[in-house]
Amino acid sequence: MRNIIIIGISLVLLTAGTALAGKPQPEPPPEAVCSSMINAKCIRCHYKTRICDALGTKSVRQWKKSITFMVRQGAELTEDEQNKVVECLSSLPQGSQVVCD
Ligand code: HEC
Repeated sequence: MRNIIIIGISLVLLTAGTALAGKPQPEPPPEAVCSSMINAKCIRCHYKTRICDALGTKSVRQWKKSITFMVRQGAELTEDEQNKVVECLSSLPQGSQVVCD
C-alpha cells in the first residue's frame, strides 16, 4: 500500500517536472540584465561612477551615441547588447542602485 502511494507521488512529481521543463524560461528582470551587462562590459575602462553620473541626463539617442563611442574605444558589445544597454540605461532613474552601488 505504501509503495503504491510512493509510486503515485513520484508519477505526479515526474509529470509536473516535465511540464515545467517544457515551458520557456521566464525572462530575467531588466535590471538584472542591465546590472550584469554593465559589470561584464563597462568597468574595464572606467569606474561605474562615470555611468552613474550620466543616469537621468541622456535621451535614448544620446545614450546610443555614448555607447557607440564606447564601442569605438574598444568596448565589446554585440549589436543586440548595445540596444539592450541603451534601453536599460535610458530607463534607469538618477542614482539607480543598478549602476550606483
Ligand atoms: C574600451 C574602453 C571603454 C569601455 C569598455 C567602456 N567605456 Fe565608457 N568611456 C570610455 C572612455 C575613454 C571615456 C571617457 C571619454 C571622456 O573623456 O569623456 C568613457 C566615458 C563614459 C561615460 C561618460 C561620458 C558620456 O558619454 O556620458 C559614460 C556614461 C560611459 N563611458 C558609459 C559606458 C558604458 C555604459 C559602458 C558599457 C556599455 C562603457 N562606458 C564601457 C571608454 C570605455
